Amino acid sequence: MRVLIHPTPELAIDCVSNLMIARLARQPDAVLGLATGGTMEAVYARLIAAHHAGRVSFAAARSFNLDEYVGLAPDHPCSYWTYMREHLFARVDFAAGCTALPRGDAADPEAEAARYEAEIAAAGDISLQLLGLGSNGHIGFNEPTSSLSSLTRIKTLTHSTRAANARFFDRFDDVPRLAITMGIGTILRADEVLLLAYGAGKAESAAAMIEGPLAAACPASALQLHRKVTVVLDEAA
Ligand code: GLP
Repeated sequence: MRVLIHPTPELAIDCVSNLMIARLARQPDAVLGLATGGTMEAVYARLIAAHHAGRVSFAAARSFNLDEYVGLAPDHPCSYWTYMREHLFARVDFAAGCTALPRGDAADPEAEAARYEAEIAAAGDISLQLLGLGSNGHIGFNEPTSSLSSLTRIKTLTHSTRAANARFFDRFDDVPRLAITMGIGTILRADEVLLLAYGAGKAESAAAMIEGPLAAACPASALQLHRKVTVVLDEAA
């Protein structure tokens, strides 16, 4: 695990976006694993600016997002589909049909999870997986006690995760209780993993991820098993 600690969030964000741009320069047809959350908004803003400056193209790439809320259709304002459209997809040059998220409104969410897992495998798995970090140590929506070899499936969100994400919804009660998420096993199959966390609120989970025991209590600690992980932090995290 390579750990890069930057003095400020801005420098950590620059570092992550530059590593993504470098991977796409080496491998324009990379399969990107993408993340949502507040942390990634500035990363996507940097990628959009780099795209407009001619420094990066997504035209040959494709992408799979980590997760989606069960029950939210792609056009729901709080869905991760909407987040990705607004923060990245509508503003760079991905080819039509080359960006994927699970369908939160699928009639059979378990079948949708299995279908999504198979679609990722059929694409040859993820080349570069971008991750944020939950303050409880989750990656994607793999909450504490997730199986370390899990595949894409339905997870029940913890109260603390629903509370952390309530700021994106009108009311706490609107935050869905279930999500479809890539599993930890799915994430570990990625060729390369790039995790970004900043702010003091992430310090405890960052320490558990990097220095703690390998344990389902901190799902991100499973990244200790991966051969090519870069963790980018600011000093507060
Ligand atoms: C969310 C997402 C994760 C994200 C994490 C951190 O619940 N499912 O993919 O990395 O929580 O979110 P934030 O960046 O808003 O702190």
